[in-house]
Amino acid sequence: MSQALQTIRGMVDIPPEQTPLWQQLEQTLRLICQQFTLQEIRFPIVEKTELFARSVGETSDIVGKEMYTFADRNDDSLSLRPEGTASCVRAAIQLGLLHHSPIQRLWYQGPMFRHERPQRGRQRQFHQFGVEYFGMHTPQADTELLLISHQLWKQLGLDQHIRLEINFLGNTDERAAHRQALVDFLQPHRASLSEEAQQRLDRNPLRLLDSKDPELQALLSGAPQLTDFLGTDSLAHFNTIQQHLNQCGVQFTVNPSLVRGLDYYTGCVFEWITDELGAQGAVAAGGRYDGLVATLGGRDSAAAGFAVGLERVLELLNQHQPVSTAHSGAYMIVLDDSAYDYAFEVSRQLRARGVTTTLDTQGGSSKSQFKRADKSLAKHAVIIGQDELNQQSLTLKSLREAQDQTTLALADALDTLTGDC
Ligand code: HAM
Repeated sequence: MSQALQTIRGMVDIPPEQTPLWQQLEQTLRLICQQFTLQEIRFPIVEKTELFARSVGETSDIVGKEMYTFADRNDDSLSLRPEGTASCVRAAIQLGLLHHSPIQRLWYQGPMFRHERPQRGRQRQFHQFGVEYFGMHTPQADTELLLISHQLWKQLGLDQHIRLEINFLGNTDERAAHRQALVDFLQPHRASLSEEAQQRLDRNPLRLLDSKDPELQALLSGAPQLTDFLGTDSLAHFNTIQQHLNQCGVQFTVNPSLVRGLDYYTGCVFEWITDELGAQGAVAAGGRYDGLVATLGGRDSAAAGFAVGLERVLELLNQHQPVSTAHSGAYMIVLDDSAYDYAFEVSRQLRARGVTTTLDTQGGSSKSQFKRADKSLAKHAVIIGQDELNQQSLTLKSLREAQDQTTLALADALDTLTGDC
């Protein structure tokens, strides 16, 4: 026997027993998108590497260390998408969406790829559900994005397990002034910083703020705060979002160290965090990125969005909302090969009436077929042998309750199953 092949490290199969929970989550996501009148957009999994370099940023960990990048047969540098925002913006520009209607509320879902060290809650192929708003610069748009995610937690029964942290990164000038002050503050301590922190200081000092190193955090406690560099417009925008959240009963904390690891953010940024999944507690994250559409060649457009890490939400759902295993539908047991054509036709009629139906195609003894029927999720066994074929009838037996089996004429049997499955 040749050796069985395995998946790539950090990339997992989703086995059939787990897909019902995925489907339940996906259904809820679709429902919420409908409720908020969002439109779905789909874009390729592979893009030019340049797209992510120009958006997520050369200095970000994602582009610098984590992308699956390769040369294709034409020697073009391509990358598996590490996130959806960049592709969504590219697609919105390329498809002329913002031209036709500058206000867009879009959503997407699919696999993303990052070559990170796999651990609990962190995979190299994972799935995101994302929402991107274009053309809306108001604090009400930021608030609505937060309300969408809040509604999602509520509808999934997870709102008690996920908390919201927000921060405000300011406009380009405000950020540049803060950056300079931060560099001036840290330069005298340069020698005490790790090599990685020194590199960050040169390339992307803001990212130092979310360092987990306790010594660096102690040093940073005296560092200039971004909020002190915000002008009146930015402060008013941030305050309005907070007021709306308070009015809508959405609890949050302001975390001045929340800077996000992607370069495109501008105004309000946020993370939805759980304390129940270990180190990888961010279940969703996002914020405003007003400059990105222009950076990627589109006309200047306000933009903001967020993405949910579906595996992390599913782990929470597994802990708190196990999927229901309600029995329904019919399992067709066929006792004689000559009755299969009749069984195919009965199955077709049942499915046409909306009854989920499994037909036992293995055959064999009635005992072994009943065993398989018991293991299935079906509520009723439908038994077909020579007698049923000759009389155009069906024999029904409950698989879940102690009841005698009954034989009914086909039309009556179909009605009974339709009413009770
Ligand atoms: P992000 O924070 O990089 O943001 O990812 C969003 C979410 O994806 C995280 O909060 C986490 O739940 C999940 N996630 C990220 N990496 C992994 C991984 N290796 N394994 C499992 N889950 C992971 C973005 O991607 C932005 N595009 C979000 C956004 C949309 N901002 C504006 N619009």
